[in-house]
Amino acid sequence: MRTILVDAGPIVHFSDPSPKAAPHSYEDSVMPKGMAIIIDNGVVESIQDSQGVREEYSFRGNEPKNTNDTSIRSLEGRAVIPGLIDTHTHLIWGGDRSQEVRWRQEGKSYLDISKLGGGIAHTTQATRNASADHLYQVGYTRMRTALRTGTTHMEVKSGYGLDTQTELKLLEVAQRLDENAHLPTLDCTWLGAHDVPKGVKKEDYVDHLLQEQLPAVVEQGIARSADVFCEPGWFTVEDSEQILRASKEQGLSLRMHIDEFSNGGGGDLAAELKVQSADHAYHTPMDTRLDMKEAGVMTGFLPGTPYSMGHQWPDMGEITEQKIPFTLATDFNPNCQTLSLPFMGSLMVQRCGLNPLHALFAVTRQAADSSPHPSGSPHGMIAKGSVANLNVLDSKHWESWALKPSHTPFHSTMVSGELFIH
Ligand code: NIG
Ligand code: FE
Repeated sequence: MRTILVDAGPIVHFSDPSPKAAPHSYEDSVMPKGMAIIIDNGVVESIQDSQGVREEYSFRGNEPKNTNDTSIRSLEGRAVIPGLIDTHTHLIWGGDRSQEVRWRQEGKSYLDISKLGGGIAHTTQATRNASADHLYQVGYTRMRTALRTGTTHMEVKSGYGLDTQTELKLLEVAQRLDENAHLPTLDCTWLGAHDVPKGVKKEDYVDHLLQEQLPAVVEQGIARSADVFCEPGWFTVEDSEQILRASKEQGLSLRMHIDEFSNGGGGDLAAELKVQSADHAYHTPMDTRLDMKEAGVMTGFLPGTPYSMGHQWPDMGEITEQKIPFTLATDFNPNCQTLSLPFMGSLMVQRCGLNPLHALFAVTRQAADSSPHPSGSPHGMIAKGSVANLNVLDSKHWESWALKPSHTPFHSTMVSGELFIH
């Protein structure tokens, strides 16, 4: 099946293949208006001049036209950007922790709330009690929500089971969700080291992770990566090193949560182990950031977390000056209930002064390096041979992707060649 989109406005394509920390230039990243995108079998076949394509297919006016194997429609000058990639989500969990907002307003920290029985432990109990079908339903609804704001691929972590049975259940639900061709594709991560379960000693839990959970997860074969919440009060650098080295030996790719509330030294370990992504990283010192860059570690900034917790914004000035490569992701979790990457874009562009092209690069081309597409084809770009994942804006200006934080900036979203009008 071929789909042809003619009369595109400017297309942000990011097709320059050389790896880098930020888009090289506007000219290298954006194609002027008037082009047509030809999609065959879920992959971009070519980008050509609209006029020639209109003539070839005898397409006049703007009414969509369908023939046996080709569907052709005019974008009427709307701008186009790649499908958005969310590189850090805790998508699947049960329960609700909205009441914790009052505790935070009374001055209690994330650690205080955890000690009071709230936080991850609370969600873990609700998730253990939930059936796989219920978790599937909540995951499905959330993925549809993410698609409406342009997400075409998302990383998904377990981590609210903290026992073998429930961790496997969460990964299995993610695999079932991934079978839906009309939703974003998923990249699964095992996060058994998210917290220590109630009533268990930390040393015993780390032993359990190494002896039982990790081998079971590897045997199940759904998770591509392992992640650890490496933060003072949760897993130390030493715990994290043991869990990550064992995971790597067993063939998993590595991710980390580091320095969310304080500088805990996780960045040094991230650099030493050359993990694929080290996320949060608000309190990471610049020399460690430079070591991470040198080691090829992607930093995953999660601006929704400080937004919902009332913490300070990350300062992007020095980070962009030093060309630190980073992605932007939602960190969707019970504490940070947004699945909108355009909202992350708005926080970065309208609050932190980040250039909208750089912010877009972080949720597309750069994010693809952190979370590859399951087909093995490139995504996060619009170029010959890339997965046909793209967003059509409700505007002639691509910059508007980051200027509509409260509703979708998109007219439609294409997932693997199928176009969904919002
Ligand atoms: O990345 N900080 C650790 N994990 C999540 C939050 C989990 C939760 O509060 O339920 C995060 O922000
Ligand atoms: Fe997280």
